[in-house]
Amino acid sequence: MSVSYVSPGTPPRFPASFVWGAATAAYQIEGAADADGKGPSIWDTFVRRPGAIRDGHTGDSACDHYHRFGEDVALMRELGLDAYRFSLSWPRVLPAGTGKVEPRGLDFYDRLVDALLAAGITPTPTLFHWDLPQALEDEGGWMERETAYRFAEFASVAAERLGDRVKRWITLNEPFVHMVFGYAFGTHAPGRTLMLDALPVAHHQLLGHGLAAAAVRAAVPDAQILLSNNCTPVRLLPEDRGDADQAAAAAYDALHNRLFNDPLLLGSYPDLSAFGMADPAWGGVVRDGDLATIAAPLDGLGINYYNPTWITAPADPAAGLPFDIVEPGEPYRRTAFGWPVVPDGLAELLTGLRARYGDALPPVWITENGCSEPAGLQDDARIDYLAGHIGAVAQAMEQGVDVRGYFTWSLVDNFEWAEGYHQRFGLVEVDFATQTRTPRASFAWYRDLIAAQRP
Ligand code: NOJ
Repeated sequence: MSVSYVSPGTPPRFPASFVWGAATAAYQIEGAADADGKGPSIWDTFVRRPGAIRDGHTGDSACDHYHRFGEDVALMRELGLDAYRFSLSWPRVLPAGTGKVEPRGLDFYDRLVDALLAAGITPTPTLFHWDLPQALEDEGGWMERETAYRFAEFASVAAERLGDRVKRWITLNEPFVHMVFGYAFGTHAPGRTLMLDALPVAHHQLLGHGLAAAAVRAAVPDAQILLSNNCTPVRLLPEDRGDADQAAAAAYDALHNRLFNDPLLLGSYPDLSAFGMADPAWGGVVRDGDLATIAAPLDGLGINYYNPTWITAPADPAAGLPFDIVEPGEPYRRTAFGWPVVPDGLAELLTGLRARYGDALPPVWITENGCSEPAGLQDDARIDYLAGHIGAVAQAMEQGVDVRGYFTWSLVDNFEWAEGYHQRFGLVEVDFATQTRTPRASFAWYRDLIAAQRP
């Protein structure tokens, strides 16, 4: 069944090779939290911490995708997707994070990959979408350098098993968010509150990326390697107060965007002296040779875009951070999550990346973009959101940015981290009591958009 929609206009024409996709992540959809020998992840632990998740929701069952993936692949086929971005649960494959492999975990991804290929959909797995094996967190998690080597071990196991059929790999998802929410503020797993002392988490994830990329390439010589960064254009208020606001914006940009893009694309870290980090080796965290490992050529940069960030100089400079995050001065429409809807921010972000990195910028893939809207099938607001942002991608491409694909977040409603099931990002509505899936109007719209792009 499908609901009808009013089209917000004729979509722009994309190249025939442009890849249309949708994205999900293991902990957010799979459920089956301890099925078939899976070990616990930091999210299995964190969701049991009182007050951590709105209304005490957990991902124990989520969308039960582990058992219902066939139905989900059928929905993808109906959409006409070229590619599907999902993530591999590390503790499903290596229950203790290292050492013993759980064959039933690998078998699941094997079946999923085969079902996707049979439906003509290119599997595009992410190796780390935040569900670190708890056993590794017990050893210090991403604060420890050793975790980077364990990640490469996992990458190698996954690539050896799936690499005959899977060629496009994403190493990390949003290492910035994992560091800030997971280790600095503690609102995500593992729930640590290290504030600026969490910085080693950035380097160890990036080192893990470099080592994992090499491991995948060793197993799959024709692999394409990407990493998905969540990037934000940094904006000032119209009444910006000159140098102090400019400096604050530059500091925020360094932390959110450049900390994760510069080492990959330029082989260096941005200046973090505004954060009291004058030592380029970060007190011994960054070792000789690490940046060369991290900067090995990428086949694509994944960009997850949701909204810009407005910055001013800190109201209280003694409070710690060299910036304040503020509300935009203009009345943008808000998603159900309260996030401002700013499609031109995506064009600004993409052309800004091109201006900053020039030829060092590899082809770009939009690996996430979408919105949370109220429950219900008639989600015209989501259609507007997607149309606006897809239009912004086309605009950036006209201005010379090489964008190869677009994955909407998300195929189905799912477990939205600290918000539990309260935020619905799906083209498909999920009734979590019955696991019934019902396509929304946006599903029909995206299906028709993809069909209209076919030569
Ligand atoms: C970023 C994350 O990668 C994904 O897991 C999350 O659900 C969406 N954005 C929406 O917040």
